[in-house]
Amino acid sequence: MMNLDLPKLFDLDKMSREPKFKNSFYQQDILSVDQFNRESLSYIFTRAQEMSEMVNKVGSCDLLHGYTLACVFYEPSTRTSASFIAAMERLGGNVIPITQGIKYSSVSKGESLVDTMITLEQYSDAIVLRHPEIGSVAKAAKYSRVPIINAGDGAGEHPTQALLDLFTIRKELGSIDGLRIAMVGDLRNGRTVHSLTKLLMSYDVSLRFVSPDTLRLPLNLMNDLIDKGVDVRETDKVEDVIGDVDVLYVTRIQKERFTDLADYEAVKDYFEITPEVMANAKEKMVVMHPLPRVGEIHYKVDKDPRAAYFRQVQNGMFVRMALLAAVLGQA
Ligand code: ASP
Ligand code: CP
Repeated sequence: MMNLDLPKLFDLDKMSREPKFKNSFYQQDILSVDQFNRESLSYIFTRAQEMSEMVNKVGSCDLLHGYTLACVFYEPSTRTSASFIAAMERLGGNVIPITQGIKYSSVSKGESLVDTMITLEQYSDAIVLRHPEIGSVAKAAKYSRVPIINAGDGAGEHPTQALLDLFTIRKELGSIDGLRIAMVGDLRNGRTVHSLTKLLMSYDVSLRFVSPDTLRLPLNLMNDLIDKGVDVRETDKVEDVIGDVDVLYVTRIQKERFTDLADYEAVKDYFEITPEVMANAKEKMVVMHPLPRVGEIHYKVDKDPRAAYFRQVQNGMFVRMALLAAVLGQA
């Protein structure tokens, strides 16, 4: 017989997990950049800067000790998945990684997204979700008890990417107001472009959109820009903008969003940023890219000090550390 008169394992009266901060992100789903304004962006960026200083000095801390994040990616990812995992681990938290795609989760047996989310919330304090359908992350959030963070929903939004993009521009160039920013590539399907364009509407910037005719910025976004009085122009040539932009934000043609491969083939080699193209750019400017690149920026450009895309990658971790800590009430 076992002695069931057990001493208690935990002195629960002495243990707690109280939120230290209850700001506007506390326990909130992060679904769209529409949830941010200049004040809340500044808050995240200040915290992200603190995160970067902490990482550079000591590597990690225990701010999120005792918290668990489920990272669920139903579309391929390198940076977003790895940086959320790294962010959580550098803050002393734990991760449930479901990053091998639908094939290796019970979704492939027919389980619904909602059931999957309700299952994962039993184990975790927040869920990061990437899914191929527009609106799917918002739908999952309706049913989940724990906060859900949108890591990309089809051709919809990629809000945390836009946060790190803006953080990078600010860090590289000092401020955002007054800049001329060009976005190049697949503006129709690029969710990073959609989120960044929306965020930039809160700033005093000029925008240039460079794409083949078939991949222009969605009309609703263009109309919003015009309604807000933003100085905006469209062209199909990088040469038209390269000489007078402060930021060249390059994107990949989103092959996976094309229903007809012939349409993709027709535009896939539409442009390439080479050292020759960069020779015409301002001395003080930055080239950014959410990555992955598949031929839009020549490798020789990497040595150019204006190439900021790998610094942008690292900023992603700092911004996600700040966001996770804020959502969980610890920043
Ligand atoms: N990685 C970014 C995204 O998932 C950009 C891209 O894939 O081209 O939206
Ligand atoms: N920028 C970005 O979202 O990269 P991944 O697709 O690799 O996550």
